[in-house]
Amino acid sequence: MTLKVTASGEALGATIEGLNLARPLQPAELDSVLKALGKHGVVRFPRQELTGRELRDFSRQLGDLEINVASHAYQEPGVPEVMILSNIVENGKPIGLADAGQGWHTDMSYSRMIAFANVLYGIKIPRRNGETLGATQFSNMQAAYAELPADVKKTLEGKSVLHDFNKFWEMMRREKGSKRPALTEAQRKAKPPVSHPVFLRHPLTGKRVLYANPGYAMRINELPEKESDEMLEFLFEHQLKPAYVYTSRWEEGDVLVWEDIGTIHNAVADYGPDEHRFVKRCQVMANRYFREDEL
Ligand SMILES: [Fe+2]
Repeated sequence: MTLKVTASGEALGATIEGLNLARPLQPAELDSVLKALGKHGVVRFPRQELTGRELRDFSRQLGDLEINVASHAYQEPGVPEVMILSNIVENGKPIGLADAGQGWHTDMSYSRMIAFANVLYGIKIPRRNGETLGATQFSNMQAAYAELPADVKKTLEGKSVLHDFNKFWEMMRREKGSKRPALTEAQRKAKPPVSHPVFLRHPLTGKRVLYANPGYAMRINELPEKESDEMLEFLFEHQLKPAYVYTSRWEEGDVLVWEDIGTIHNAVADYGPDEHRFVKRCQVMANRYFREDEL
């Protein structure tokens, strides 16, 4: 069977059938997957059956993987590149990170080396009245850049944005009732704020993208504080225009891959503690496409 890409017909998203991700991809298959990822931002591979190792080995074909040192409690045993995202509690202990990503953001925009892609594998998906819960939403930052007003493009050209890991962490504590403790001084020192250009060139499409997100962006460095605040407020609203947003609904067995340069995303928190979700994640870094000094 040959690989078949079906576009969602919406702002982002496609389904790819005809690939068994447990086996290494042929070079031509990898090319097709990357092409679809550039064009559609988010691709879904239904009905996959993968061990943690197979998920890691598939993800590695997209680039180097991050090992999240802060959350080693939620790594798959023996496969530190695989992180468990779950609200399941066993013997009084959470088996995974329960409230990951519940707010619009871009993974790793707060890192020196940013993220290229996320690979998520849905093993248990909550369901109510026959409908799956816990969708993942995306917004298209290639489109958001293209439709920025000319004066905003001109003002922001060559400028940079400060991203801070602590911003999202504190938002979760303050607004979402998360039980996360405040970051310690040592944790904050380990993840100091970093700056990246507000516009990046997308490595898969060559198009420019708006690289800012409500989760981590703190400041346009080169603008006075008040102007920066106003500009960020404008960008956060602009980048979530309904025309750019796509909602991806999960089915058990889905592998969902999205690229993090041209999209921002949000995990919809519409399920309760007894509606169990169990998802495995790998995080692919962008060092195949960018050097740190370009970011
Ligand atoms: Fe995320």
